[in-house]
Amino acid sequence: MRLANKVAVVTGGASGMGLASVLSFAAEGAQVVIADFNAQTGNAAVETALQQGLDVSFIQTDVASEEDIEAMCEHALSAYGRLDVLFNNAGVGGAIGPITETTVEDWDYTFDVLAKGVFLGMKHGAKIMRRQGDGGSIINTASIAGLSGDAGPLVYSAAKAAVINLSKSAAVELAPDHIRVNAICPGYIATPLTEGKNPEAIKRSFTQSQPWPDYGRGEHIAGVALFLASDDAGFVTGESIVVDGGSTAEGPGRTRRFPQMAASNSRYSGVTKGSTGADNALRKRDPGESDA
Ligand SMILES: NC(=O)c1ccc[n+]([C@@H]2O[C@H](COP(=O)([O-])OP(=O)(O)OC[C@H]3O[C@@H](n4cnc5c(N)ncnc54)[C@H](O)[C@@H]3O)[C@@H](O)[C@H]2O)c1
Repeated sequence: MRLANKVAVVTGGASGMGLASVLSFAAEGAQVVIADFNAQTGNAAVETALQQGLDVSFIQTDVASEEDIEAMCEHALSAYGRLDVLFNNAGVGGAIGPITETTVEDWDYTFDVLAKGVFLGMKHGAKIMRRQGDGGSIINTASIAGLSGDAGPLVYSAAKAAVINLSKSAAVELAPDHIRVNAICPGYIATPLTEGKNPEAIKRSFTQSQPWPDYGRGEHIAGVALFLASDDAGFVTGESIVVDGGSTAEGPGRTRRFPQMAASNSRYSGVTKGSTGADNALRKRDPGESDA
């Protein structure tokens, strides 16, 4: 039981990777508060957890509201007596479309949920953890969209970049209190947020979008969140962990764009020595040959 005697709050815990994390935290012994805007899916998530014999409760929360975040933290204290793990994970796609057509209202909504929500969670969660005096773990959901251009919509990506830096800055500030702060940068994960009306088609396209030959699931994120929540990550703080099936490792995608450049398709193996004047040492091979 990696989270025995711990109390966790998961925002956006009614769906997707948040729900997977709620179930995983609770299965590892935590008492878990699901904080979500959507009361219908929130109550359904509680039902699911109760059927598995897990100890969870729900509070309707808008993470963009300071009042709601305070009520969420109070709920953890009144229901379970403390707060050890706060997973600031709630999110929406937010503003879409060209920058030239993006309204200030849509920018504000996106930043309110994705960036202000994380700031408010950390502000009030850290106050409680500091008062308790025995540390804690704060985990924030960022995205690979916060790491480069063109991995997500423009405003969303900017807000996720903010989450990565907020996590680092807060980690430094809260380290003396033994409060760890880390971010997770998911790649393309099949959840109700991304699945749309044709989940199977999305799963197929996600599977083909990255080196790993299978699509990302909420459980992949929950596994990393559980590690960060637990004492196994006792010296990990200020980190952003990419969980993306190799998408960012692939970078410009040279071998996906130019399959002939893939190592497995190379006509030679050995070493090339460029403009040194020294001879290359190459062995001709059959394209597609493997050493297996
Ligand atoms: N799915 C992906 O491919 C992907 C990739 C990178 C990052 N993310 C991020 O992961 C997080 C979880 O996304 P998901 O894919 O599990 O989506 P999801 O839609 O399945 O779950 C998100 C949950 O957040 C809740 N929520 C939205 N706005 C809220 C608010 N203002 N207050 C409280 N709750 C609110 C929703 O009601 C929902 O239950 C989000 O922050 C998202 O941006 C997702």
